[in-house]
Amino acid sequence: MAKVPAAKIQFLPEDRTWIAERIQEVLTSGQLTLGRYGAEFEKEFAELCGTRHAIAVNSGTSALEIILRSIGIEGKDVLVPTNTFFATAAAVIHAGGKPVLIDMDPESFAIRPEDVQKALTAKTAGMILVHIGGIVSSQTQVLVDLAREKGLWLVEDAAHAHGSSYHSIRAGAFGLAGSFSFYPTKVMTSGEGGMIVTDNDRIAGESRIYRDQGKASFTVNAHVRMGYNWRMSEPHAIIGLKHLERLPAMIEERRIIASVYDKGLMEFENLYPLKIPEGGVCNYYKYIAVMKNAQDRKALKAELRERYSVSLAGEVYEEPLHKQPVFAEYAVKPLPVSEDMCARHICLPIFSGMKRSEATQVIDALKEVIG
Ligand SMILES: Cc1ncc(COP(=O)(O)O)c(C=O)c1O
Repeated sequence: MAKVPAAKIQFLPEDRTWIAERIQEVLTSGQLTLGRYGAEFEKEFAELCGTRHAIAVNSGTSALEIILRSIGIEGKDVLVPTNTFFATAAAVIHAGGKPVLIDMDPESFAIRPEDVQKALTAKTAGMILVHIGGIVSSQTQVLVDLAREKGLWLVEDAAHAHGSSYHSIRAGAFGLAGSFSFYPTKVMTSGEGGMIVTDNDRIAGESRIYRDQGKASFTVNAHVRMGYNWRMSEPHAIIGLKHLERLPAMIEERRIIASVYDKGLMEFENLYPLKIPEGGVCNYYKYIAVMKNAQDRKALKAELRERYSVSLAGEVYEEPLHKQPVFAEYAVKPLPVSEDMCARHICLPIFSGMKRSEATQVIDALKEVIG
């Protein structure tokens, strides 16, 4: 039986040649950071998101921290979903704020307006919305409006959501600013890297200062902010540019696999996929399916791998942040929806270049172990 991997990175041979040629060029010129390819990557990424600015940085984590430092969150509370990656909450702490972990919507895996309302205090400065698995929740605009009404800001952690949208507004373009990750597991990669997108001139200007050691400008040696080396190198920008060009095709390939899964899962009693909201476009960073009755996920994954050669992808997320030892001091109360949903979902393998026959193999294997 052929092995179905959990994920795979796709760089077509002609794309590898294109990338190698340009890396040769920057190696020859010596312009290895903050050069024309970085600027081009920013321009094209801003076009993708429909925002006025995009600022390339060296990771999704630094993109988030830079946005939060640019806003200024020292001593303030920031609402963060508990079902997210470590970096979402860590960035708040690194920028001097306090993450207040909140529960999730079982239908979209995003935060819900009612949970935000309940968590608001005089110390709340804003909230981070994470588009889990590439799904932009139908409640996104409601959350944006709620934030505005309360005098708060909303930042999108769009690390999963390159090219996703809801009613034609792209992920990253709803809030004050959005951050993206180009880590190799993501729908598009630059090796390592991240991007900040915003329509706000001040946040854009501050972000450029923060990413380059807090320097007022590239050429002047005046350090005006507590910045860091958060720059993206030209070789990374070159890789990212090529994957950005391929993004629509890569999403289409994922969508085809998702439709095989959608159809296949219709026959299942104990497993249902998360719905993409009407008017939404998902990039299918993850294909999330929920077990109605919880089964031992570790055993299930081992059986799929050993008996059916199918590797499931990593969950979003296996454990909510309030259960992570490093965030113990922020775990002030149980967050039951996330505890339940984190334990009860699986992520089916999905990647560009995946064959329909591989998706069918996954469905057939799941039928045996879940049914
Ligand atoms: C939701 C989320 N936020 C932030 C990050 C951090 O991105 P990076 O790994 O590029 O620092 C990731 C992923 O890696 C993520 O999944």
